[in-house]
Amino acid sequence: MTRAAVLSGLGTALPPRLVTNDELSLRLNTSDEWIRSRTGIGQRYWTDRMATSDLAVDAGRRALKAADTDLVDLVVLATTTPDHPCPATAPDVAARLGLGPVAAFDVAAVCSGFVYGLATAAAHVEARLAERALVIGAETFSTILDPGDRSTSIIFGDGAGAVILRAGHDDEPGALLESDLGSDGSLKELIRIPGGGSRQRTTSADSDLASGHLTMDGRAVFRHAVMRMAESARTLLARTGWGPASVDCFVAHQANVRILHAVADQLGIDRDRTVVDLDRVGNTSAASIPLALSRAAETGRLMPGHRVLLSAFGAGATWGSIALTWPDITAD
Ligand code: UT7
Repeated sequence: MTRAAVLSGLGTALPPRLVTNDELSLRLNTSDEWIRSRTGIGQRYWTDRMATSDLAVDAGRRALKAADTDLVDLVVLATTTPDHPCPATAPDVAARLGLGPVAAFDVAAVCSGFVYGLATAAAHVEARLAERALVIGAETFSTILDPGDRSTSIIFGDGAGAVILRAGHDDEPGALLESDLGSDGSLKELIRIPGGGSRQRTTSADSDLASGHLTMDGRAVFRHAVMRMAESARTLLARTGWGPASVDCFVAHQANVRILHAVADQLGIDRDRTVVDLDRVGNTSAASIPLALSRAAETGRLMPGHRVLLSAFGAGATWGSIALTWPDITAD
């Protein structure tokens, strides 16, 4: 029996404004039929006034309630859309949740952010640096989209998902068993926001508004996402000794249903064991895995003891996978 981080609470939050494919088709040269058939996305939620921290606090509060605790000693917030470039958003979230003077930091791994954050927090728990951790994925991608770019505007949605990790043992339901993280910075141009950093400053007189918008080479991202998620997940299957047929639930980053199916097919995991949540919320980047976990738990697809495989790919490029068993919890 080895010390391990154990998942003990899950909470989510979505902004109130529902944006349908039909609404986007009114101003972009696209259609509900194109979006559904090429991505699987049926709708998404966009924030009007809520900042990323507002969604993070909401999801965090629900996760704490679900875990029946108000004590953590680490807060990790995965986000691409912090409230400000400086400071990090996690300390503000921790303070607003009333968590006291805890360690709190942001993780910037874009769509792989939740997997990076979860693996990092689990390592803190395993190393006895923390007894309990709050890990949040929260995004407001609607604030960085180019409103005229149909290839990105149709995909991304806003939202947040949070989990509590507590110290426990690797034979308990809910234990995080293995993780794998990776990156390839030579692919940094695939998805990026050119301006706003030290390379291209938005404070200079010649900066333009467009440099703050997200750009994406969708086709190349698609190819790399399938390859890297499959590779990383395969690494974990080998380490855990799980055969593809013994994975009860495959919860991958919700980028495109065709990506989800391609990865599942490459791994030999049945498509019906692959959770699809992007029909409801689109691609919510770092929030997509906890939102998908919540959907799967609510619909009875996750049972205590189930073998769960998480996998993600995002800008950077970054990727990662985590193997865990499902705990006896309900999402709040
Ligand atoms: O979370 C990680 C980040 N993002 C992703 O993982 C996204 C991965 N990539 C994708 O999901 C897909 O590449 C997209 C959904 C972005 C695009 O789908 P695709 O099947 O790869 O389309 P494409 O880029 O190859 O474009 C095919 C055609 C093009 O027209 P032409 O050049 O063939 O005339 C595009 O201009 O579809 C056009 N197109 C659209 N048409 C209607 C691109 N976006 C749209 C749109 N509506 N929204």
